[in-house]
Amino acid sequence: MTQYSFRKYQPLGLRLWHWLNALAILGLLATVLLRKTFLSWRSNAALIEAKLQEAGTAITPEVAKDIAVSIRNPMWDWHVYLGFTLGALLLIRIMVGLLVVKKCPATHAVQSAWNLKKVPQKEKGSAIHYTLVKTGYAFFYLATLFMVTSGILMQFKTELGLGKEAIGVIKEIHEMMMWFFVVFVVGHLLGVVIAENRGDRGLVSDMIHGGEKEKGS
Ligand code: HEM
Ligand code: HEM
Repeated sequence: MTQYSFRKYQPLGLRLWHWLNALAILGLLATVLLRKTFLSWRSNAALIEAKLQEAGTAITPEVAKDIAVSIRNPMWDWHVYLGFTLGALLLIRIMVGLLVVKKCPATHAVQSAWNLKKVPQKEKGSAIHYTLVKTGYAFFYLATLFMVTSGILMQFKTELGLGKEAIGVIKEIHEMMMWFFVVFVVGHLLGVVIAENRGDRGLVSDMIHGGEKEKGS
């Protein structure tokens, strides 16, 4: 194991946080997938209209849309519940970082980048890879902070008196930022599998039982 190994002792607080955070992110992505596919109001409104027409009942497009949106809404409520859960997890991660791990992911990434100059040539590849992965985590937290803030602004737009135009812009960026999480999740899963098969055998089980304390933190 080299100093660029991703294996390290994972305290219980961070392990619990990691799996709850993974569930929240996957859940949020699942609600978006459902909203855009099976529960899309456009395709379901057209379906409701067509089926009622077949049965000999006339329905206006507005009522068909209203029904389709009403079917979708209880599912979409979960986007907001999971969104607030993600917000709470972000706060907890900051507390875990300050009190348990005593390391800030962004500082860690910057430190690795700073040390790159001093790394011997033959270790450069591993050192750059390590820095990129840690930078990816720092961006994950930054993107999560943005999603939570923009999500809360959208949820409380009336109470906060935010205009249609401002909300439109916030929603567009919130929606676009979803792709960061898609890329992160795919890259993270592939990365963990590759690391487990190269020098970091035991990386995944460390995230379950914690690993050996002498590996450091
Ligand atoms: C799919 C949603 C997931 C998300 C959003 C996610 C997110 C994260 C984040 C942010 C970290 C860095 C934690 C830190 O600050 O140190 C991390 C580390 C880690 N994750 Fe995940 N994770 C996910 C799923 C998984 C899965 C399914 C596995 C295992 C099969 C896994 C294994 C690991 C391991 C081993 C680490 C520590 C490795 C390292 O420090 O580079 N993750 N994850
Ligand atoms: C990784 C995290 C998240 C992802 C990937 C994500 C993704 C999305 C996407 C793609 C939309 C646009 C849906 C559409 O109009 O077709 C959306 C809307 C929204 N999101 Fe998120 N979101 C996340 C986190 C959050 C959080 C933390 C909250 C806060 C509570 C939140 C609250 C909302 C709200 C209120 C809307 C507007 C829905 C509407 O106009 O009816 N989201 N989100």
